Amino acid sequence: MKLKLQISSDLHIGYPGARGFPPLVPGTDIVLIAGDTCEGLQRAIREMRAAYPQVEIVTCAGNHEFYHGAYFEQLAEGRACARELGVHFLEDGLASFGRLRILGCLEAELARHHAGTTIVMTHTGPTLDHVAPSDRSELISAAYASRLDDLIDRFQPDHWISGHVHYPVDFVRGRTRLISNPCGYAGEIAAFDPSFTIEVEA
Ligand SMILES: [Fe+2]
Repeated sequence: MKLKLQISSDLHIGYPGARGFPPLVPGTDIVLIAGDTCEGLQRAIREMRAAYPQVEIVTCAGNHEFYHGAYFEQLAEGRACARELGVHFLEDGLASFGRLRILGCLEAELARHHAGTTIVMTHTGPTLDHVAPSDRSELISAAYASRLDDLIDRFQPDHWISGHVHYPVDFVRGRTRLISNPCGYAGEIAAFDPSFTIEVEA
């Protein structure tokens, strides 16, 4: 069975001039949102469920979800809200759809044998290639992306979806396709594709 996944991140819906949630692409089975939807985790989850009432949603928190809040409180409220609204919230967890697994926890799950498709979703980028070339030598790049190259090379998940860095990427490393489709602030990213989808075997 093939599933169609619509991917975005960094929608920043509370900011002036924000585009809002991308219109649902017809035939989409699962919407994936890789964090920084807005400030307030519970609000982010409620807003995405309101925007996409009829489809599966898998999301992870960004840094903005925790702004103006206390981390553990936000997390507990967000988890409860996600359960209530049937949103798959990845924080050291995973979501499964047939033979597709989407992981928000890393090494232990990646190490588990899985006969099917594996997608990893994180808010921050997993390699330095996720950072714009002009910023790569800046110390602040450590706040944009991690160096998880070794994890990618060892486990070769089919896809790794991330956001945070307002720099779109779509490239292949070994057997892994790495994707970031951030919306960013108003008019910031010309290359943002609101209709970005992939199809995977499930
Ligand atoms: Fe972010």
